[in-house]
Amino acid sequence: VLQLSVVLGVIFVLLKVVHFYQKRKKLIKALETFPGPPKHWLYGHNHLITGDKMLHQIMSWAEEYPYAFPRWLGPVLPSLVIHHPEYAKTILGQTDRKSEVPYKFVVPWIGQGLLVLHGTKWFQHRKLLTPAFYYSVLKSYVALMSDSVKVMLDKWEKKNSEMKSVELFQDVSLMTLDSIMKCAFSYNTDCQTQSNSDYYIRAVYDLSYLVSNRVQTFSYKDIFYDWTRKGREFHDACKLAHTHTDKVIRERKMLLSSEKELDKIQKKTHMDFLDILLCTKDANGVGLSDEDLRAEVDTFMFAGHDTTASGISWLLYCLSLHPEYQQRCREEIQGILGDRDTIEW
Ligand code: HEM
Repeated sequence: VLQLSVVLGVIFVLLKVVHFYQKRKKLIKALETFPGPPKHWLYGHNHLITGDKMLHQIMSWAEEYPYAFPRWLGPVLPSLVIHHPEYAKTILGQTDRKSEVPYKFVVPWIGQGLLVLHGTKWFQHRKLLTPAFYYSVLKSYVALMSDSVKVMLDKWEKKNSEMKSVELFQDVSLMTLDSIMKCAFSYNTDCQTQSNSDYYIRAVYDLSYLVSNRVQTFSYKDIFYDWTRKGREFHDACKLAHTHTDKVIRERKMLLSSEKELDKIQKKTHMDFLDILLCTKDANGVGLSDEDLRAEVDTFMFAGHDTTASGISWLLYCLSLHPEYQQRCREEIQGILGDRDTIEW
């Protein structure tokens, strides 16, 4: 029996090695038209892209390989970094099934919301959520965002007098989180100025960091990730975030169940995202289930704040490198604002 087990074990390992080798060969072939930096057979490029060096390394590869280049995250996990606008446009215009790999990292948090859905259910949610993007709804958010930006700029004004360099990303993240909390839940958190802000803000902030860290380090297998300190932190933060989202939904549902309140909310000058989600119905008068509601709220919290924070931080970084464009932007903004220090739509 022992001999047989050893033989079977060896056969199993050999089959795995062959499978692994063939998979790798197929992937290398698929990417051969894209030249890229030399890779280690096991680590790929992971050992070259660490911590502070990441941005500089990626930028220098982008200069060397001007449209796109493969970035290997391990022996059988390549990604393609696309940095030419025309290439990006082509990819973003595709309606193919969404890639499973990065999204599966966020599903325990955001569930089956628009970002990860596809097919009929995606279409159904997309239709139900259309009212959330009417101009009449979005317009009222501009003043809320402008208020959040002002808080951030006031903070920077103070820091500026100390003549020290500052790390902008955290402040920008808190600003976008503050904005989405106001737009999504009509919830003022003071998270930009109170360092010990409430547990939900901390959970969302931690979750966004942990997700982007997992994408960058490609801790791919749940079975390994869940055992790490970061994996445990991720699941704890998910629980906190869900507790909060469920509570907010429950309370708002109760409020809307009173006809008088419902009428008042529908006449409000601005309905927040949660009002809209709770009021939306399909042609048969059916709205979103509780589970779907939570998924959409959590999806928008994630998709709406981390992306914008990264985009704005990147823009500020680029403007700092190019003072001539900075000046052109300043003139354009001053031309629009005139004497005002805020913007409405
Ligand atoms: C600069 C900011 C943003 C960037 C760069 C960005 C980028 C993207 C990209 C590339 C996708 C497509 C993902 C895919 O199909 O695999 C996407 C989808 C999505 N984004 Fe954004 N996004 C930004 C801001 C926002 C904001 C502010 C929100 C919400 C408040 C949001 C909510 C969503 C949702 C719900 C989806 C899924 C849409 C669907 O499949 O129907 N995003 N975003």
